[in-house]
Amino acid sequence: MDLTAANHRIPLSDGNSIPIIGLGTYSEPKLTSKGSCKTSVKMAIDVGYRHIDGAYIYRNEDEVGEAIREKIAEGRVKREDIFYCGKLWATHFEPERVRPYLEKTLKTLQLDYVDLYIIEMPMALKALEACKDAGLVKSLGVSNFNRRQLELILNKPGLKYKPVSNQVECHPYFTQRKLLEFCQQHDIVIVAYSPLGTSRNPLWVNVSFPPLLKDELLNSLGEKYNKTAAQVALRFNIQRRIVVIPKSFNPKRIKENFQIFDFSLTEEEMKSIEALNKNVRLVDLLLWSDHPEYPFHDEY
Ligand code: A2P
Repeated sequence: MDLTAANHRIPLSDGNSIPIIGLGTYSEPKLTSKGSCKTSVKMAIDVGYRHIDGAYIYRNEDEVGEAIREKIAEGRVKREDIFYCGKLWATHFEPERVRPYLEKTLKTLQLDYVDLYIIEMPMALKALEACKDAGLVKSLGVSNFNRRQLELILNKPGLKYKPVSNQVECHPYFTQRKLLEFCQQHDIVIVAYSPLGTSRNPLWVNVSFPPLLKDELLNSLGEKYNKTAAQVALRFNIQRRIVVIPKSFNPKRIKENFQIFDFSLTEEEMKSIEALNKNVRLVDLLLWSDHPEYPFHDEY
């Protein structure tokens, strides 16, 4: 299957599909000017992105919704062309809070449904299955789950819908080889957050490693293909059938990150990028490391 700018959806196990690149929209609210999220989402749709990754907790879901609705009203896209992923935040796992929280997202977006809705812990599953049955969500997925936690869900008696995706940190310095293999065996698509190695905000990012985009190999491969290190890093993941959701609110970089369908890395090059893996998380969420379900104590 060839991925192109016009056609780059990959299948999900429930019969739906997901565009292999999406625009990430998390931006520290205090450092972000009002409207920049909306402008970026609109621009991304113009450039050809069809997948937007957001969350109620990001405090800009209203702008994402406005941008999508304006692009639909302009006739640029139809609702079904757009894939929106929303997220159930950690304080809303009690079954009775799940649907109201999802409805908050839908009301903020002013959309009838989201394409994918993802959770961080297993407890809320039953209530989420009901949201899918009610048509409020097309697909259900998870985020930051380790293998044990995925198995817990997959082996849950009476499970109605398997998670279709697991959104985790993934880039050439943290390649997630074992988790990828496990997920592929179970038809779970990996969605890579921070595929460019994060914003390097020292408040929540481990910045003890040099920036990924300064990496020598990524830059020299970039030179070979007349691409940037960022484009090489994104291409590496999509060739592994990993969905990437680089955040950018910068017009030049929004475009740049989408221009990854007109070159390909050789098998050798893929191997040499894989070898850059340092197996260390940049987003370690250590704040929650004493929680019993903190996902990152396990090997993967
Ligand atoms: P900006 O919005 O100014 O482009 P995340 O890890 O959440 O995906 O964030 C990615 C970070 O990398 C953001 O800070 C974003 O900033 C920056 N970024 C996005 N695309 C590129 C690129 N092509 N080259 C360099 N930096 C980028």
